[in-house]
Amino acid sequence: MGAVPSEPKHVAIIMDGNGRWAKHHGLPRTAGHQAGLEAAREIVRKASEHGIRILSLFAFSSENWLRPKAEVHALIRLFGEALDQEIDRLVQNGIQIRFIGDRSGFPNRLQEAMQRAEAASFAGERLTLVIAVGYGGRWDLCQAARTLARRIHEAELSEDRINEAEFEACLSTGGLPDPDLFIRTGGERRISNFLLWNLAYSELYFSDTLWPDFTVKHFEDALNDYRGRQRRFGRTPGQVRCSRHA
Ligand code: FPP
Repeated sequence: MGAVPSEPKHVAIIMDGNGRWAKHHGLPRTAGHQAGLEAAREIVRKASEHGIRILSLFAFSSENWLRPKAEVHALIRLFGEALDQEIDRLVQNGIQIRFIGDRSGFPNRLQEAMQRAEAASFAGERLTLVIAVGYGGRWDLCQAARTLARRIHEAELSEDRINEAEFEACLSTGGLPDPDLFIRTGGERRISNFLLWNLAYSELYFSDTLWPDFTVKHFEDALNDYRGRQRRFGRTPGQVRCSRHA
């Protein structure tokens, strides 16, 4: 088991603090999200340079639907514009896009744009960019449970064959390795319903920096911090030290 972290293969980020950043600058919250998009663009660029294979970004949670209508509409518009502007560049750079979450609440044209982006970038091998929209970890667990129940009902699966691998395969993240490193910006120390199953053994890193101010330097600080962690996956420190030298 890889106890000595080198570079994380999968990094998951909660990009928090756009609203407060905007307030500090005397701007509307939507300007904070626009600035957040710029920050995300830089981190995506840097991630593949560090050999990260999967970058998961929490762009819109299942709970974000509860925000004021104008902010929700502005976010939806921003996602649509960002997809239109970025897709060619992402494809040229070998980036595969994968959306996770319940898309049914989004306007049809955005759902279609998401599908088009996934299809156009399918062959990308450099980095998989997972964008969580309308996503909640509990939603994902429930939809996986429904899929398993349906498969049992249709006699494709027997209940005694449900194990972690079968369950994982039914999650919207099916097939992706778990995040090695989870980063949350903006000062809060919580997971907020992101990747509940997948973060079981992730290393957690919290930054007080508001997301629009989170530069490549801050990202590299997080990667450096990760390199100093000892990942034990339930083993003892002694066992982990032995496996390093094995
Ligand atoms: C949380 O900050 C941020 C969001 C709910 C939206 C995140 C969206 C982006 C960064 C732009 C789009 C990015 C991609 C990859 C499509 P907050 O609004 O909760 O900030 P606050 O805690 O200061 O109020």
